[in-house]
Amino acid sequence: MTNKKPVDEPDLSVLIAGVRLQNPVIAASGCFGYGSEYAEIIDVSALGGICTKGLTFKPRQGNRGERLYETPAGLLNSIGLENPGIEAFIEKELPRMRALGPALIANLSGGDTDEYVLGARLLDDSAVDMIELNISCPNVKSGGMAFGLDGERAAALTALVRKAAAHKPLMVKLSPNAPDLAAVARACASAGADAFSLVNTFTAMAIDTARRRPVFDNVAAGLSGPAVRPLALRMVWDLYGALEDSARNSAKRLKPPPIVGLGGIACANDALEFLMAGSRAVQVGSASFARPRSMTEIIAGIGEYMRARGLKTTAELNIRGSYPGPQNSGAAPQD
Ligand SMILES: Cc1cc2nc3c(=O)[nH]c(=O)nc-3n(C[C@H](O)[C@H](O)[C@H](O)COP(=O)(O)O)c2cc1C
Repeated sequence: MTNKKPVDEPDLSVLIAGVRLQNPVIAASGCFGYGSEYAEIIDVSALGGICTKGLTFKPRQGNRGERLYETPAGLLNSIGLENPGIEAFIEKELPRMRALGPALIANLSGGDTDEYVLGARLLDDSAVDMIELNISCPNVKSGGMAFGLDGERAAALTALVRKAAAHKPLMVKLSPNAPDLAAVARACASAGADAFSLVNTFTAMAIDTARRRPVFDNVAAGLSGPAVRPLALRMVWDLYGALEDSARNSAKRLKPPPIVGLGGIACANDALEFLMAGSRAVQVGSASFARPRSMTEIIAGIGEYMRARGLKTTAELNIRGSYPGPQNSGAAPQD
C-alpha cells in the first residue's frame, strides 16, 4: 500500500490593517452592490471581502444622463455615488451583508469634509470591519477626487476621518489621477491611514459623434477594466517601492501600510501580477459585470498556482524582496 503524503493546502488568508480575510480577493466598490444581489449567482461566502458602493452621510440620487459606456477593453462610468445614505445602509443593508460572511468594507465618500466626518462617525458605531476612504471618485462635482489629488488636502481629511472613526481600520483609496501619488500616500500614512487601495478609475471621456456632444453630462467619466490594468500595475509597483523606502528611512522604522491593488483584474493571472508587485490583496471591479463568477475563479486559480509551486502563504507570491532590478519604474515623480 502506498502511503500518500497529504498535500498541504496553501493558506490564502491575508491580514489587512488587523482584519483577517480568508483570501486576498475583495469585491471592489460600486461593482458588486451590497453583495446579497449576487448571492444566487455565486458563492458570495467564498470571497475575501466585499466593499460597499460609495456611501455618503446624506442619500444621493447620482448623476443624470448617461452613466455607463463601453470602450475597447474598458468601461466608462459616471454613476455619481448613488446610495441610500449611511443611516439607511446601516439599518437595511448591513445586517444582510454581515450575514454573507466575508469581511465587510464600507466605502466612505462625501461632498465636503463635514459630510465625510458625519459619515465616519456613523460607520464607527456600526458592524463594518473596515472603512475605505474614497478620496478618488472622479464623478462628483465636489469632494471625492478633489481630496485625493493633493497630499495636504488628502492628509487633512484622513486625519479628521481617522479621529471620527477611531475604532475602525482605515484604508485610503487613492486616485491614479494624482500627479504625485507617492506624496499623497505618504501624507495619508502620516495622518493615520492603515492601508491603501489603488486604483480608482482614470479620468477619461467619450464623444457621441451622432449628437456632436460628450457622452456624459459631466464630460469626464472614470475608466476601468482591462484597458487600465498595466497602468494600475505599474502604479502599485511604484507605490510599494515608495512606501518601503519611506519606512526604511523613517526614524521609527515603521512597517509600510499594506496595498490592496486593483484595476482591470479579470482572471487569476491578472491577480497574481498584482500580488507579485507587492499588493497584499486585490479587488475586482468591472470584471464582475461581464462575468459574475470571475472572483470565485480567481480565488481558485491563486490556490492552484500556489499548490503547483509548493507556496504556503500568499506573502510568498510577492517578488519585491527577491527582485534585483529597480523598485521604481521611473515613470512618475516619486518625490
Ligand atoms: C460602475 C462603477 C461604479 C463604481 N463606484 C465606485 C464607488 O462608489 N466608490 C469607489 O471607490 N469606486 C467605485 N468604482 C471604482 C471601482 O471600485 C474600481 O476602483 C475601478 O473600477 C477599477 O477597478 P476595475 O478595473 O476592476 O473595475 C466604480 C467603478 C465602476 C465601474
